[in-house]
Amino acid sequence: MAAAARFTVVGGGLAGLMTTIKLAEAGHQVDVLSLVPVKRSHSVCAQGGINGAVNTKGEGDHPDIHVKDTLRGGDFLAEQVSVKGMCYAAPGIIYLLDRMGVTFNRTSEGLLDFRRFGGTLHHRTAFAGATTGQQLLYALDEQVRRYESEGKVTKYEYWEWLGTVKDEGGRVIGSVAVDLRTMEIRTFPAEAVCLATGGPGIVFGRSTNSIINTGTAAGRAYMEGAIYANGEFIQVHPTSIPGEDKLRLMSESVRGEGGRVWVPRKKGDTRNPRDIPESERFYFLEEKYPKYKNLVPRDVATREIFMVCRDLGMGIGGKDGVYLDVTHIPAKTLDAKIKGVMEIYEKFVGDDPRVTPMVIFPGMHYSMGGLYVRFEADSRTQTPLEGSPVNQSTNIPGLYATGEADYAFHGANRLGANSLLSCIYSGMIGGPAMAAYAKNNATSAAAMPEKYFQSAKKYWEDRFATIKAMNGAENPYALAKELGDIMTENCTVVRYNDRLKKTVEKIRELKSRWKNVNVLDTGNVANRALSYTNQLWNMLELGEVIATSALLRDESRGAHYKPEFSLPEPKTKDPREDADWMSLWRKRHEKWAKTTIAKHAEQGPQISYEEISTPVLDPEPRWYA
Ligand code: FUM
Repeated sequence: MAAAARFTVVGGGLAGLMTTIKLAEAGHQVDVLSLVPVKRSHSVCAQGGINGAVNTKGEGDHPDIHVKDTLRGGDFLAEQVSVKGMCYAAPGIIYLLDRMGVTFNRTSEGLLDFRRFGGTLHHRTAFAGATTGQQLLYALDEQVRRYESEGKVTKYEYWEWLGTVKDEGGRVIGSVAVDLRTMEIRTFPAEAVCLATGGPGIVFGRSTNSIINTGTAAGRAYMEGAIYANGEFIQVHPTSIPGEDKLRLMSESVRGEGGRVWVPRKKGDTRNPRDIPESERFYFLEEKYPKYKNLVPRDVATREIFMVCRDLGMGIGGKDGVYLDVTHIPAKTLDAKIKGVMEIYEKFVGDDPRVTPMVIFPGMHYSMGGLYVRFEADSRTQTPLEGSPVNQSTNIPGLYATGEADYAFHGANRLGANSLLSCIYSGMIGGPAMAAYAKNNATSAAAMPEKYFQSAKKYWEDRFATIKAMNGAENPYALAKELGDIMTENCTVVRYNDRLKKTVEKIRELKSRWKNVNVLDTGNVANRALSYTNQLWNMLELGEVIATSALLRDESRGAHYKPEFSLPEPKTKDPREDADWMSLWRKRHEKWAKTTIAKHAEQGPQISYEEISTPVLDPEPRWYA
């Protein structure tokens, strides 16, 4: 194969752009497909920061402690080699971004500033106010534009990836995509294709995700034979605000900067929160977790808020909602550190959080699960071997995945501010892996017989024509709402098997009703309903994976909480000192410390489990008191 090859990267967020940069910097041609202008990719919504054990505050922080916090935070289900590689690369990534011109906050001495985030006792999160994702995305976009001007990168904005083109051996040799404005369907030959398409938040209806995050590309890849791993691990962020259209994130950085979570001690207290004295406030996270206080990992904080509202009935006004209070922090500090969040709250709720405590509730935020990818470990360092074609590769030859679309970095629960990091790191190793893989391709994709491309294109033209002719009784948006409602109700904070069974049955019912949809729009240009109806099928497939995987995992781990299968509370503060409890924990761990593997089949997902490997750290129980 020629030295400079052509690749496709799907998705223009941090993972996609970093994958693109690495390929272009090695001299390759890259086609970037994005549903929206890349600067509007969902990474733009990330607020709080990016983690790296830079230790400018002299706290003795180190990448090894970052590794440990991440693996513990993920309840020992994360892929350890990739986590170690990511945490060791993190300080260098932050310095790289700084050199690219990211406007990180700095201390008065001019050093990069770091704030605390959940699941660690260290100040490890670099931040640009509370719009960190936007600043990072714009910095990478600038770099990609440079390659674009040199003719190495071609951006296809408003193009939707539909599926792969494969040769008869099953190797990916390109993609099929649709131009969402003209509805033209065309193929893109590529030596390798990377899906950096984000998470499936919209499967849950309303979430903190952008409305483009339907998971459609991952769903389609799964239908084409890619393994979907750990689908049941869905992160519900403790602090969001509801909106008619979507939920909005109130960043963890609010607590990182000293925000406190509380409810009135007296149920149904209707006083203005500012009139409720300290002694009559229940700071439930601080009382139960004196060490980590309001910065316990997200799964823990979310469950506590949920239980205070639903089980104790102590939510504000008897409803779902607790106070997130920053009124004790000077407005000047809030504006210097978290103005972006203050403004979102003010705009969408109407109150100024600098003077009135915010009211927040958990909301679906992130998927730890995703497309199964592999890594080749450097046996000396137990980090991904530089330049190995295995890194970030799915089980389909030539198909790669990076960012939230892959499953590898966060186990059963992601620590806040590790996602911007995993997006960038996975792109940094994914790009070179694709280039290394392509070197071994005997025939370049562009030289493969035209028949493969023609038949893939025809498949999609026929499928779109079929969907366009559907004029049944079902409204696709109404079906999506039913899917979102049941997923949110039964597949988020607390899970019960009887409800999960009903969820799987409901999804099967929705799949059969999908066959009777009315596409609503038969236009030939910018036909959003046509593309959405196709996406909806892929969302149903992913919903079925998530619910089935949750049903079959009979334990509680990280964000997957099943009261019926939870261990009892240990008798000692440090659970390792309770021998009986430890033996229960070991038994449970032996049975369930496994990656969930979902393979597509017509009759529903086929689930099996793969032993996790622990070359870096032996698992231990998690506790944060
Ligand atoms: O809370 C936040 O700012 C979100 C960060 C993240 O999801 O990593």
